[in-house]
Amino acid sequence: MSEHILTKIENRVLTITFDRPDKKNALTHAMYAAAAKAMQDAETNDDVRAILFTGSGDAFTAGNDLIDFQQAGGISGDMPVQHFLQALVATDKPIVVAVNGIGVGIGFTMLLHSDIVFMAEGAQIQAPFVDLALVPEAASSLLLVNRIGHVKAAEIFMLGKRVSAQEATDMGIANGVCSGDTLLETANKAAGKLAKKAPQALQKTKRLMRGDKQALSDRMATEGEYFGEQLQSAEVLEAITAFFEKRAPDFG
Ligand code: COA
Repeated sequence: MSEHILTKIENRVLTITFDRPDKKNALTHAMYAAAAKAMQDAETNDDVRAILFTGSGDAFTAGNDLIDFQQAGGISGDMPVQHFLQALVATDKPIVVAVNGIGVGIGFTMLLHSDIVFMAEGAQIQAPFVDLALVPEAASSLLLVNRIGHVKAAEIFMLGKRVSAQEATDMGIANGVCSGDTLLETANKAAGKLAKKAPQALQKTKRLMRGDKQALSDRMATEGEYFGEQLQSAEVLEAITAFFEKRAPDFG
């Protein structure tokens, strides 16, 4: 479905790699669709006991492809990004992430739906939604505030602060920092351990830890409404045009 999503199943671990390194693994509609499909297939595949995400090259993912954003003109529940987010919320299979480099937008917010997160030294995460004249997604406006509190979350969402691997670990967003060459091995080892656990107990534990799925879906619906309004705004057009023109946006 997309040549930029690599999948493999080994030792009962499904690895999904964002593989568009020349664009910092920015996620296109086709990439979201392929990643969502891989996750949906994993739901019914007893041979998949854990899911591991990582990126190719020096970035984890630069988030949503900004050209796709520019052309979207709105969002609907039927868009591939929504399918990917729903798959993240829906799955009871444990998710491990190896954040190998910069993670922007969904490269940050998906970590809040993940169970075990390792970051490479030098990797950073950022959720600059307001800088793009957008609003948070993936129920992150709820999950991040719950995880780290309002003022820290405001630094991330409103000021667009970049969070280092160590800070992410200190905030409880990541489990730890690894050197670049041990990151994947460390993440694989954790995923492999999870894949050997009693699958029903593990999945029920995840369900219990995640709590109220409805609250997440409700928040995602409200975020989606605001996000869709913003996508059609002059503010967003200016922000994205400024990115590609390599200048600071002017919001008047
Ligand atoms: N969508 C589309 N293209 C993107 C992209 C995105 N989200 N992020 C990066 N790219 C492209 C750049 O346009 C550039 O393309 P080019 O080589 O044809 O000019 C290429 O990827 C490399 O990006 P560059 O900005 O030169 O790399 P960098 O190492 O200096 O910075 C980032 C990396 C991720 C910090 C920076 O690219 C960035 O801020 N990207 C936008 C992130 C974003 O706002 N995402 C949306 C979140 S909701």
